Amino acid sequence: MHLSRIKLVHFKNYTDQELHLATRINGFVGQNGMGKTNLLDAIYYLCMGKSYFAVRDLHLVQHEQDFFRLEGDFEQEQEKTRRLVVKVAPRKKKELELNRVLYEKIADHVGVFPVVIVVPDDTQLIHEGSEERRRFLDNTLSQLDAVYLSSLLTYNNVLRQRNALLKQQHGRPVAENLLSVYDLQLLAPAQYIFNRRQAFISDFLTPFQAAHGAICGGQEQVSLVYHSLLAEQDLGSLLQQAREKDRLLERTTVGIHRDELVFKLGNHPLKRLGSQGQLKSFVVALKLAQYRFLQAQKGITPLLLLDDIFDKLDPQRVDQLVRYLLTGDFGQVFISDTDSQRISRILQQAAVAAKLFLIADGEATELEL
Ligand SMILES: Nc1ncnc2c1ncn2[C@@H]1O[C@H](COP(=O)(O)OP(=O)(O)OP(=O)(O)O)[C@@H](O)[C@H]1O
Ligand SMILES: [Mg+2]
Repeated sequence: MHLSRIKLVHFKNYTDQELHLATRINGFVGQNGMGKTNLLDAIYYLCMGKSYFAVRDLHLVQHEQDFFRLEGDFEQEQEKTRRLVVKVAPRKKKELELNRVLYEKIADHVGVFPVVIVVPDDTQLIHEGSEERRRFLDNTLSQLDAVYLSSLLTYNNVLRQRNALLKQQHGRPVAENLLSVYDLQLLAPAQYIFNRRQAFISDFLTPFQAAHGAICGGQEQVSLVYHSLLAEQDLGSLLQQAREKDRLLERTTVGIHRDELVFKLGNHPLKRLGSQGQLKSFVVALKLAQYRFLQAQKGITPLLLLDDIFDKLDPQRVDQLVRYLLTGDFGQVFISDTDSQRISRILQQAAVAAKLFLIADGEATELEL
C-alpha cells in the first residue's frame, strides 16, 4: 500500500500544501523547525485518525485559523484509489471520511492503513514509565485486531469510572455493589488484552532480534520480557484481594493497566546501562520489527515514517540501517533529515522510485535528485 498524494490545509505550519509522493522512498530535508515532523505526523494522522504526539487536535490547527483539513490518496494493488479526509474544527466532532463515507467511530479506521513511525523522542519508551511501553503494545495490537482496540476502550472506560468511585468515597464505606459491578465489567476485556499481549511478545521476539541484529551487526544481545499479574491469577481474584488497598489508595492497583514490558540488553535492564546510540538502535529495531510484524499479520505493507532516524547513530550503524532499508522488503518509506548531503546520497543510491522534498516554513518543494 502507498500514499500517492497528501494535502494539508491549516495543519500546524502548513497553510495549503499538496505533495505527490514517490511509491518507495520520500525524503524530507530542511532545517530545524521547518515542518518535517509536522508533515510526518500528518501522514500518521491519516492512518490512525490522530496525531502520534499526545496533543489535542485543536493544537494542530494553524495559529489564527479555525480548522484543519487533511486529505490522503491511498493506493493498493488492484484496488481503486481510496481517499481519506480528516476535518477538525472547534466545537465540532472530528470527521473522518473514507471515500466520502463518514466513520461512525474513529476506532473503525485504525488498521485500515497500517503505519509505523520512528521519532527521536521514542527513546522515552525506555526512560519513561511503563505507560509508554504499553502504548507501544497497544499501538501494534490495535492495528491488528479491532476486538483488542474495543476491549481496551471498554477497559479504560470502566477503569475510569471505578477510580472515580474510589475517589468519591473519602473514608466512607465504599459502595461495594457498584465496585463489584465494575470489577465484573473489567474481567473479559482484561483477559482478552492479556492473552493478546502475551502471545504477541512471544511471536515478536524473533523479528525484533533479527531487526536489531541487522542494525547492530549482531554485537549485542537484546530481549523483551512481559510482566503481568494476570499471568499468575485471574483478574477477579486479584481485584478481590486488592480491594482494601484500592480503597485506601483511592485507585485501582491491579489490572492490565499495570502490565510492564522490560527491555533487556544482555542480562540487564537497558534503562540503566544503555548508551544513547544503543538506546536509539534498540528503539529503531523495535519499530522495524513492529513493521515486519504488521506486514506479515495483515498482509498489507505499512507506511514507514522515519523522523531523524540517523541522529545519534555512528556512521557504521547508519550504513547498516540504510542498507537494511534499501534492500529489505519495505514498502513506502518517508525519511526526514536535516543533513541534505546525507539524504541526497541515500536517495541517489536507492535503485527504487524516490523523491526528495525541501521543507521550508511549511512549504514543500520537490528537488532534483
Ligand atoms: N499550530 C501551529 N500553527 C502554526 N505553526 C505551528 C503550529 N504548531 C507548530 N508550529 C510550528 O511548526 C514548526 C515545527 O515544525 P516541526 O516540528 O515539523 O519541525 P522540524 O522540521 O521537524 O524541525 P527539527 O529538525 O527541529 O525536528 C515550528 O516552527 C512551530 O512554530
Ligand atoms: Mg522534527
